[in-house]
Amino acid sequence: CGIVGYVGRRPALEVVTAGLRRLEYRGYDSAGVAVLADGVLAVAKKAGKLVNLEKELGEHPLPAATAGLGHTRWATHGAPNDVNAHPHLDDAGRVAVVHNGIIENFAALRAELEERGRRLVSDTDTEVVSHLLAEEYSACGDLAEAMRLVCRRLEGAFTLVAVAAEEPGVVVGARRNSPLVAGVAQGEGFLASDVAAFIEYTRDALELGQDQVVELRRDEADGSVAVTVTGFDGRPAEVREFHIDWDASAAEKGGYDYFMLKEIAEQPKAVADTLLGRVDDAGRLSLDELRIPPEEVREVDKVVIVACGTAFHAGMIAKYAVEHWTRVPCEVELASEFRYRDPILGPRALVIAVSQSGETMDTLMALRHAREQGSKVLAICNTNGATIPRESDAVLYTHAGPEVAVASTKAFLTQLVACYLVALYLGQVRGTRSSDDIREQVRELSRSADGVERVLSTMEPVRELARSLASHDTVLFLGRHVGYPVALEGALKLKELAYMHAEGFAAGELKHGPIALIEEGVPVVVVVPSPRGGSVLHDKIVSNIQEIRARGARTVVVAEEGDEAVVPYADHLIRVPVTPPLLQPLVATVPLQVFACELATARGNEVDQPRNLAKSVTVE
Ligand code: G6P
Repeated sequence: CGIVGYVGRRPALEVVTAGLRRLEYRGYDSAGVAVLADGVLAVAKKAGKLVNLEKELGEHPLPAATAGLGHTRWATHGAPNDVNAHPHLDDAGRVAVVHNGIIENFAALRAELEERGRRLVSDTDTEVVSHLLAEEYSACGDLAEAMRLVCRRLEGAFTLVAVAAEEPGVVVGARRNSPLVAGVAQGEGFLASDVAAFIEYTRDALELGQDQVVELRRDEADGSVAVTVTGFDGRPAEVREFHIDWDASAAEKGGYDYFMLKEIAEQPKAVADTLLGRVDDAGRLSLDELRIPPEEVREVDKVVIVACGTAFHAGMIAKYAVEHWTRVPCEVELASEFRYRDPILGPRALVIAVSQSGETMDTLMALRHAREQGSKVLAICNTNGATIPRESDAVLYTHAGPEVAVASTKAFLTQLVACYLVALYLGQVRGTRSSDDIREQVRELSRSADGVERVLSTMEPVRELARSLASHDTVLFLGRHVGYPVALEGALKLKELAYMHAEGFAAGELKHGPIALIEEGVPVVVVVPSPRGGSVLHDKIVSNIQEIRARGARTVVVAEEGDEAVVPYADHLIRVPVTPPLLQPLVATVPLQVFACELATARGNEVDQPRNLAKSVTVE
């Protein structure tokens, strides 16, 4: 979910709805706002996307106000209808609350409130907070203190923002495990799940820590806004100030119809930016930010990568690179499975948490588990100051810039780059690769940005092909070696965007089951490894293509330039530039992104906000 709170000199409703627009990637099941005008809370909320709420506000405007809050929801508890939309109020309408996360003990709290005669009207876990907050506020008359008292009773993950009718110049926020940042400017203050919500007004922000409450209080007399941060226990807390260095236009569509198209096009730059300052022209690596002393790197006896969704696919590819370049065993695991199976960890395991947002709850919990077991955790993350990098021992930031479309594209490519860099660094420190070899790989990595650019310039036939497949129900993807995770990623993109049955398989596994799915006309995308050096894998996959074609598949072959062996068996051929085998995913994934995006458009789907999904999933 996305949350915004505001107090200041501007019309609060405008600031809040503009913020929600920028946070809509976090959920779009419903949206709502509350503003404080003349000691009264005015509320509007609507099921569905933000446009529904905006329409409602157009027809029934809310009074002018200088404080307010808003929410865009990804439903967990309760159907996405008007009643369950946030904000939630207590029964006297004195406090309004928006929430991101899950309050695990809400049933007990709800029973307790109902016993006291409170009337709860929604199915959400959030509503209990508004009632508890109203009760505590009546008792102490201080919204921040009331929030602290309530938070101490809550279990689970939450970001909360609240306003009270009797405190027109105050907005209060709280966080445990879910994200919340504060923005500060002359005479105004912002609270939001992500800086994107307020970047058009200020670039100065405060990172809030775990179990903290923040109060923004506007002085009626001089219009200044004071920010106070404490722990849930009321003790003053230290906060880190930071400056947001990307500008608002980075989170605009910039002439593209969809964010996803823009983000696909930005990939060459994102790849180059992620390498910037980390490799020099001579091919040397400098990763000072890793902050794990070389002695410890040499001691590492296993690498464990945890991630979800697209980031997990980056991790799967990293495994091939880590094991090949460093000879250290590498496991990759879905973060949501990791801690529940009692994994074998310890001080010599290096755990790498890969996450675009740095907020994914499953990944966060996996990294906490790893640290509890004494392992060092390295985050690969795209979001400065997010919880996952904050809680890790070291972080390597990907420099993809803000990614807004729910389906990840440029973040994935930069995650790959970061993984390759880490793997090469491990190989360098541990002496498993010669310096010449590392230099050569680094040079190839640097060239990959041009490779991506080349692929992007040849995508028209891929779009055409996608349009021709719009009425199909199933598309299968096959790959071998690093092409296997690429196949999985291609299939994931298609599920997310085109809502088609799409599955990725290791091509060698085909004969053990999936081949039964092949029938006349089923499109099968095959990611072919390089034929250079007489690759056995290449020959094997060419046989696989023949096997499926013999059974009626319509083959879409992604193959390196100059690979002539595949030509006779390709109904459609997509060329990618020559790269070293391990780096092929950097170029081979791109056509699959374009393919999924075009198919989604052809099927009339929402490209940037696919149904049921959210970009940052801050619940387990
Ligand atoms: C969600 C998104 C995916 C993303 C995954 C992991 O499911 O819809 O696109 O890959 O989360 O996100 P992260 O921010 O941790 O990379």
